[in-house]
Amino acid sequence: MTQVSNRLWLVAGLTCVGTLLVAACQDPEVVVVEITAAERGAQLAADPALSKAPQNHVACLDCHAEAPGDAALYLPGAPLAGATLRPSFWGGQESTLLRSINHCLNYFMAADAPWEGDEEDAVAIYAYLESLEQGADASAAPLTVGAIVDPGSGDAGAGADVYERACASCHGAKSSGAGRLVPSAPTLPEETLSAHPEPDYDDFDRRLVFVEKVRHGGFLGYGGTMPLYSVEVLSDEALADLLTYFGVPEP
Ligand code: HEC
Ligand code: HEC
Repeated sequence: MTQVSNRLWLVAGLTCVGTLLVAACQDPEVVVVEITAAERGAQLAADPALSKAPQNHVACLDCHAEAPGDAALYLPGAPLAGATLRPSFWGGQESTLLRSINHCLNYFMAADAPWEGDEEDAVAIYAYLESLEQGADASAAPLTVGAIVDPGSGDAGAGADVYERACASCHGAKSSGAGRLVPSAPTLPEETLSAHPEPDYDDFDRRLVFVEKVRHGGFLGYGGTMPLYSVEVLSDEALADLLTYFGVPEP
């Protein structure tokens, strides 16, 4: 991506730019606000409208913390601070930052076309990522795709906490979906259980549906826009707690 971090952005009053012209501008409401590309990038990172797709409801910062330890949430994406310094991405499967971001735009935000890198939005996001470099860890972020195995039984109370911190943002409240961010995210666990009815699916299969969706997201043939959760983000133990909280019967 082009490295332009000090470029000024004009977010309002584009027709009345500059002090000399302000007097000539007929609209007294117009205020010229100048922000840096990095500041513009920070706004875009929090804005689902960065993807023009009407079905998208999520922003970069719904899935990525700025810095490690920032988030009280279990966020599926690696922290953004240091991303500009990393030697590889996506668990070593991707070697360029631009393509790494394009995967998110494509798979998770339903964007219709990848960035070339010189678009205003891309330049602003890059400047924002660069602004997070200081003191950041430059090593590649780990991404271990979890095995699709039944994690066994866990603790329902701990599972409620996992649900709140990992799933509730998109799926809304358990069993009702109240407050969900993403309209296409099903009510958990009921809608997933009824979409996989017995006897077509036995108890074993039904538990694995949850495990597979969490571990693969929309990848490996599953489809959809849900992100995957690596073992580093969500342990097998946390997954066991979650399934116990859901009350998905064990075989
Ligand atoms: C729905 C969740 C989601 C959204 C939205 C999202 N990402 Fe991601 N992102 C992920 C996941 C999951 C990965 C893969 C795990 C990983 O390597 O971080 C990833 C990977 C990345 C990586 C590679 C990180 C690394 O070191 O491996 C970068 C950089 C990145 N995303 C930036 C962005 C930016 C910028 C946006 C907004 C334009 C964005 N993402 C939107 C979930 C998301
Ligand atoms: C960034 C938003 C987002 C987050 C966070 C999220 N999901 Fe999803 N999930 C979705 C969407 C959207 C769907 C609908 C299918 C799709 O688009 O992938 C979905 C579908 C599912 C399904 C249905 C699979 C099926 O075949 O019936 C399950 C189960 C599921 N999610 C579990 C979880 C769990 C458990 C968590 C927390 C660990 C979680 N999701 C976090 C967005 C999300």
